[in-house]
Amino acid sequence: MRILIAGANGKIGQHLIRKMADSKHEARAMVRDPEQAPALQALGATETVVGDLEKDCSDAMKDCDAVIFTAGSGPHTGPDKTIDIDQNGAIRLIDTAKKMGVKRFVLVSSMRAETPEKAPEKIRHYLQAKLNADNHLRESGLTYTIVRPGPLTEDPGNGQVEVSEKLDRSGDIPREDVAEVLLEVLDATNTENQVFDVLSGEKRVKDALGNL
Ligand SMILES: NC(=O)c1ccc[n+]([C@@H]2O[C@H](COP(=O)([O-])OP(=O)(O)OC[C@H]3O[C@@H](n4cnc5c(N)ncnc54)[C@H](OP(=O)(O)O)[C@@H]3O)[C@@H](O)[C@H]2O)c1
Repeated sequence: MRILIAGANGKIGQHLIRKMADSKHEARAMVRDPEQAPALQALGATETVVGDLEKDCSDAMKDCDAVIFTAGSGPHTGPDKTIDIDQNGAIRLIDTAKKMGVKRFVLVSSMRAETPEKAPEKIRHYLQAKLNADNHLRESGLTYTIVRPGPLTEDPGNGQVEVSEKLDRSGDIPREDVAEVLLEVLDATNTENQVFDVLSGEKRVKDALGNL
């Protein structure tokens, strides 16, 4: 499949591009700045395309079979940008996928997004933005998978995770392992139309997803 990756230049995105280069899938890396393209091609992106989630990305999505959204406004912007990117950017891209006939959509959300009201006030808007995007995808009619990682680390991945509809524990997960989950999800039909939490755990990604 040809996969449009929104957030390709991000930390998870770069791991994903590298892993996808060794898979049967082709990565079309979407970047905001054309100067980011050569490095992503060197990492293994089959193609790069310029696109901004605050604008129409129809051209970037042309002829793609699936979309993986792993973009985000990041921790250094205010709540406005969180709404613009994590919520409205995702919603715009979901609507574009529908319009362009792209049927499969994988969205990186966040653990605890289903209960923003229970979160500390500082991150409530972020979790609400994620939940709004998740709900839009669920109601879109697209074949979706919503992946909700816990706190992300820079540690090297070890390919061992725990996934469940709801993980009621603390923990974290290397970004590299989230990237592996995103890649595996594309071929795991049992993850279609599923929402799940993911943390570091004790099962190989493929086995953990298989047991969902
Ligand atoms: N941090 C955590 O503990 C945590 C936990 C759970 C889930 N998450 C989620 O995990 C995801 C990825 O995390 P990460 O650490 O890989 O993020 P990251 O390194 O900050 O990457 C985010 C990417 O989004 C891109 N982006 C931002 N605005 C954009 C726009 N308008 N148009 C196109 N692309 C845009 C950025 O582009 P540039 O490279 O051009 O800046 C960047 O490549 C996010 O959705 C985040 O909310 C994070």
